[in-house]
Amino acid sequence: PAAKLPDGTNMFQWKGIMLSPQLLQAAITADKHFSARSTDIFVASYPKCGTTWLKSLIFSIINQHSLNQEKESPNPLLSTSPHDLIHNLELEVYSMDPIPDITGIPSPRLFSTHHSYGSLPESLKHCGCQIVYITRNPRDSIVSFWHFTKKFSYHGLEYLSFEETFERFCEGALPFGPFFEHVLQYLKASKEMPEKVMFLTYEEMIADTKGVVKRVTAFLGRPVEEEVEKIVEMCSFEKLSNLEVNKSEENTSKRRYPNNVFFRKGAVGDWMNHFTPEMIERLDHITQQKLQGSGFEFRFD
Ligand code: A3P
Repeated sequence: PAAKLPDGTNMFQWKGIMLSPQLLQAAITADKHFSARSTDIFVASYPKCGTTWLKSLIFSIINQHSLNQEKESPNPLLSTSPHDLIHNLELEVYSMDPIPDITGIPSPRLFSTHHSYGSLPESLKHCGCQIVYITRNPRDSIVSFWHFTKKFSYHGLEYLSFEETFERFCEGALPFGPFFEHVLQYLKASKEMPEKVMFLTYEEMIADTKGVVKRVTAFLGRPVEEEVEKIVEMCSFEKLSNLEVNKSEENTSKRRYPNNVFFRKGAVGDWMNHFTPEMIERLDHITQQKLQGSGFEFRFD
């Protein structure tokens, strides 16, 4: 065991990331059994970096036809949580008992994962499938994670103070951490294999959603020039967070969280309301050390 969750659960380091026993079991099973298709598309992220948003955008890009026929077949996003439209491979497939049969899903299959590039199932790395990765500045990621854990119980993380959450984030001791290695691995993969891995930030999506969506459509080979505006509007924080399904306290899937925990502020810069100057200094120091030489910088506002 490499660390402990607050309730005493041991965390294990597996291919460079921290996993609870349940996630470790899922990772090993996925490694053994997951057979990727060259047409599969993955949304990859460290938790709280914009997964929900990217899922809704990619679902819309891939399912443009259903968006065009709104009257005959209503847009699934209007009544279904984005997390029920794109399932997480380790949490909603390989943690399940029995493991759902995903071989019958027609192509292109859409999945998500919180694994780092280095800890992805081998089959996924070695086939022609595509991965869209989203990251977010570490200050807002910590704030978002802390609020998230206040809303449901996961191995006692809900009892951590903001300071304790910060500490664990810095130590890389939260599930799927360490954060910076996660970011750097996908950054490297996106440079080495630009046709396979696309690297996005939450901040650039906020600054220019339309521009990012156009780049994603080009990357996925699904040009949608005239639909881009519709997609952006449908997937906006205002629209999605106000839908009944996404406001629901219910958990409509097998995942353990209620639907509404995925929507909070949806903005850049809430760290200003949580961080002390000492915390900023400490995290900036780590950030600079880790990103040195990578050519990549985070935006904080
Ligand atoms: P905040 O807690 O800062 O508000 P994830 O989807 O990876 O769990 O990340 C959740 C974060 O993304 C939350 O951030 C949430 O509010 C924000 N988010 C969810 N949907 C969004 C959308 N459509 N547009 C912008 N941000 C969104």
